[in-house]
Amino acid sequence: MHGHYTGLQLIIGHLFLSCLAESGPSDYFYQDFLNGNGHGEVSSVKLYVVTSQQAVLPVRGGNATLPCRFWYDPELRGPRRVRVKWSWLPAGGGREEEDVLVAIGPRSRSFGRFRGRVHLRQDFPGDATLVIGGLHLNESGRYRCEVVDGLEDRSAAVDVELRGVVFPYQPPRGRYQLNYQGARQVCEEQDSTLATFDQLLQSWKDGLSWCNAGWLADGTVQYPITRPRVPCGGQRLAPGVRNYGRRHLHKHHYDVFCFSSSLRGDVYYLTHPDKLNLTAGQEACNEDGAQIATVGQLYAAWKFTGLDRCDAGWLSDGSLRYPIITPRNNCGSSEPGVRSFGFPPPQHKHGVYCFKSAAD
Ligand SMILES: *[C@@H]1O[C@H](CO)[C@@H](O)[C@H](O)[C@H]1NC(C)=O
Ligand SMILES: *[C@@H]1O[C@H](CO)[C@@H](O)[C@H](O)[C@H]1NC(C)=O
Ligand SMILES: *[C@@H]1O[C@H](CO)[C@@H](O)[C@H](O)[C@H]1NC(C)=O
Repeated sequence: MHGHYTGLQLIIGHLFLSCLAESGPSDYFYQDFLNGNGHGEVSSVKLYVVTSQQAVLPVRGGNATLPCRFWYDPELRGPRRVRVKWSWLPAGGGREEEDVLVAIGPRSRSFGRFRGRVHLRQDFPGDATLVIGGLHLNESGRYRCEVVDGLEDRSAAVDVELRGVVFPYQPPRGRYQLNYQGARQVCEEQDSTLATFDQLLQSWKDGLSWCNAGWLADGTVQYPITRPRVPCGGQRLAPGVRNYGRRHLHKHHYDVFCFSSSLRGDVYYLTHPDKLNLTAGQEACNEDGAQIATVGQLYAAWKFTGLDRCDAGWLSDGSLRYPIITPRNNCGSSEPGVRSFGFPPPQHKHGVYCFKSAAD
C-alpha cells in the first residue's frame, strides 16, 4: 500500500519505555528526501531512544553522566543527520522546562545556566549521553533526551537526584519569620537551597522529625513527623510528612527546609587555646586560612564526611551547634544529628567551626 511513494520511506516505531510509556505502540512513516535511493523501495525502519538508567545520584560539584542512546532497526547504512536535544524540568514543581543542549551531528550548543558545562559524550554512533560538569545544588530534576530524525521524534528521560541532606532552619529572630523569598535567601546564606518535597520525604524516611512547618521549593509548607505526639498535630495522626498546602508566598511566614550536598573542602572544629565570642571566632577562622562554617556546611560535613564532635561551636549565622554521628552520654539525644543551642548572645565564649575550601 505504500508502493506509490518515492524514495526511502522510514517507518518509525514508537519506543515503549516501561517507566515512561506515554501511549501504545504506533507506527509512522514519512518520505525521506535526504536518503532516498530512488528505487521506490519501502523499508520499515524504527527509531529507538533509550536510557540505561532511570536516575543518577550525583553530589554537588560533581559530574553527572546521563545515559541516552538511539539506534535504528533494521540498522541503517551510513550516518543520518539527527538532532539531539536535552532539556530539563527542574525538581520542585512550578517551573518551565529549560533547554540544556542541542546537537546536530558534531555541532552542539548549550544554553542558559548550562552554557559551557555540558557536552554530548558521543563515544559511539548513537551515543547521546549528556555529561554535566560541576552540578549545582538546585539542578535536580528530570532531564529529557530527545532525538529528532525528519518527522520522527522520540525521547527518554533520566532523573537527576542530588545526594544530600535536608535540615530545618529557623533564623535568629525566631520561629515562623520567613516568607517564601526570605526562606530562599536564608538557605542560600547557609550554603544550601530550598528543599524539594522528594528531598524532604527521603529525609523523613531517614528519620528526620521536626515539629515546625517549613517552606519547600514548590511553595508548599510541610513538616515531617516520625513519632506522632501532642504538640505536633496530635497522636492520632499517622507518622508522615504533614502538608499545610500551598501558602501565600509573601504574606505567610514559616520556617524552612534547606538542602545541602557534599562540599569541596573541609569543616573542622578549630583548635584554639581560648573560647571565643562570635566575632573573635570569625577572625580566628580567617587567621587559619578558612571561614567560619555555615549551617549547611556543618550538616554536609556531618552527612558526607562523618564529622562527629561533642563540642559546641559558633557558625556564621550566630548559632551554636555540634555534629554527632555516634550518640553518647552528655552529647545530646540518643539519635545521630546536628545539635543546636539556638542563638546565644554573641559576646558569649565558645568554640568555633571553620570551613576551608579545597579550591583555595
Ligand atoms: C568532571 O569531569 C572533568 C572532565 O572530564 C574532570 O576533569 C573532573 O575531575 C571531573 N570532576 C569530578 C568531581 O569528578
Ligand atoms: C541555583 O543555584 C545557582 C548557583 O548555585 C544560583 O546562581 C541560582 O540563582 C539558583 N537558581 C535558583 C532558581 O534557585
Ligand atoms: C570579642 O572578643 C574580642 C577579643 O577577646 C574583644 O576584643 C571584643 O570586644 C569581643 N566582642 C564582643 C562583642 O564581646
